[in-house]
Amino acid sequence: MKKLKIADGIHMLTMNVEDILFEGMWELANGVTLNSYIVQGEKTAIIDGVIGWDGVPETLYKSLGEIGVDPQNIDYLIVNHMEPDHSGWISNFRKIKDDFTIVCTDKAAKMVSSFYNEDKIMIVKEGDTLDLGNGKVLSFHPVPNVHWPDTMYTYESSTKTLFSCDMFGAFGMMGDHVFDDELTSEEIDYFEAEGMRYFSNVMITFTTSVKKAIEKAKTLDVRTIAPGHGPVYRKNPQKIMDDYTRFCRYAEGAGKNEVTILWGSMYGMTAKAIERAESVLQREGIKYSKLQMPLESESEMVATVFRSAAVIVAAPTYEYKLFPPVAEALNEAGRKKITGKVAFRFGSYGWSGGAENELKEIIERNKMKWDFIDSVEFEGAPKEEDLKKVEAGVLELIKKMKEKVVE
Ligand SMILES: Cc1cc2nc3c(=O)[nH]c(=O)nc-3n(C[C@H](O)[C@H](O)[C@H](O)COP(=O)(O)O)c2cc1C
Ligand SMILES: [Fe+2]
Ligand SMILES: [Fe+2]
Repeated sequence: MKKLKIADGIHMLTMNVEDILFEGMWELANGVTLNSYIVQGEKTAIIDGVIGWDGVPETLYKSLGEIGVDPQNIDYLIVNHMEPDHSGWISNFRKIKDDFTIVCTDKAAKMVSSFYNEDKIMIVKEGDTLDLGNGKVLSFHPVPNVHWPDTMYTYESSTKTLFSCDMFGAFGMMGDHVFDDELTSEEIDYFEAEGMRYFSNVMITFTTSVKKAIEKAKTLDVRTIAPGHGPVYRKNPQKIMDDYTRFCRYAEGAGKNEVTILWGSMYGMTAKAIERAESVLQREGIKYSKLQMPLESESEMVATVFRSAAVIVAAPTYEYKLFPPVAEALNEAGRKKITGKVAFRFGSYGWSGGAENELKEIIERNKMKWDFIDSVEFEGAPKEEDLKKVEAGVLELIKKMKEKVVE
């Protein structure tokens, strides 16, 4: 666990976690950090305590000791969000200390009680404050449904620090550089990509609420944004607010100037047409990612589709429906409410087809509002005339996606 000073009386503890399935399902290519913050006035508060995924709270207590905080002197546990990646240590803390107050929203209070059987809770509402003494005053600002109903911001007024919990977070483990002003340009790109992975895996279903949370952050006079995952923004907090604003647009159909080819092929017939599609993309200088389903992780698939301005769905018919791994990927994109993408499908069939009907059904059922140009289906191997149609389709897609590009 790394220990850093953010300001006088404010410390950060952060640890890298790898080889986990985040939320029990997301395979994280580059892991994640868990960040916790300690604010010391005359009283001491810990915001979103963290323990390792191994559930060893002693690591946290030891680290607290190393920054001069005796766990016995912690008066307040600020629970910005009840998800156990931030609150999982509470029951254990109860074993070593008896008198502390949990501070959280009414919705979190219900969960603190049902998950951890705690009842010494101070429920806070918008604008409520907690004076810790020595000039450290915390205020609380609920941001419901990002991505749980209980979530709130905690703001420290003397340093203008916003402890934003999951909001403005990113996946990706941190090396030596934790603050935005320390990051190299490669690290900035890395955390932007990991921010998109985080947003698309965890936040995207709640885009409407995320937008409200961005607006709420703007009403506070913020000098530093200190999230629960990923880097701390002290030089330019506006950057992560702008990134999140852009991510909300990606959720609604905008995207980077790149194409995702979401594909699957049993015997290589559809794959022959993908080669032609790729040659067009290369000729036109369009960046693209190829995701072969079911080999790609769901985390990577969702993140890549999310950030692309256009999607090519290349998959054959299977048992009168769309090739199942690709159908599943599209369903997942639908569950995540990735809407409004420009798209194009082509694929092979053997005798009757049927993939197209299921594609329409998935898009409609999930209210995805993807804008599909006419699909190209071919019997068996694609003939030159089919490949010409694929080529024309890709060119049309490139034209259409231009209106969607937001970098
Ligand atoms: C398990 C299986 C189920 C299939 N079901 C259908 C079907 O319901 N309707 C159809 O027209 N073709 C069906 N086909 C034929 C494939 O769509 C055809 O072989 C196509 O060329 C496969 O393209 P690919 O090599 O890109 O996977 C099926 C093939 C397999 C192996
Ligand atoms: Fe969370
Ligand atoms: Fe979290």
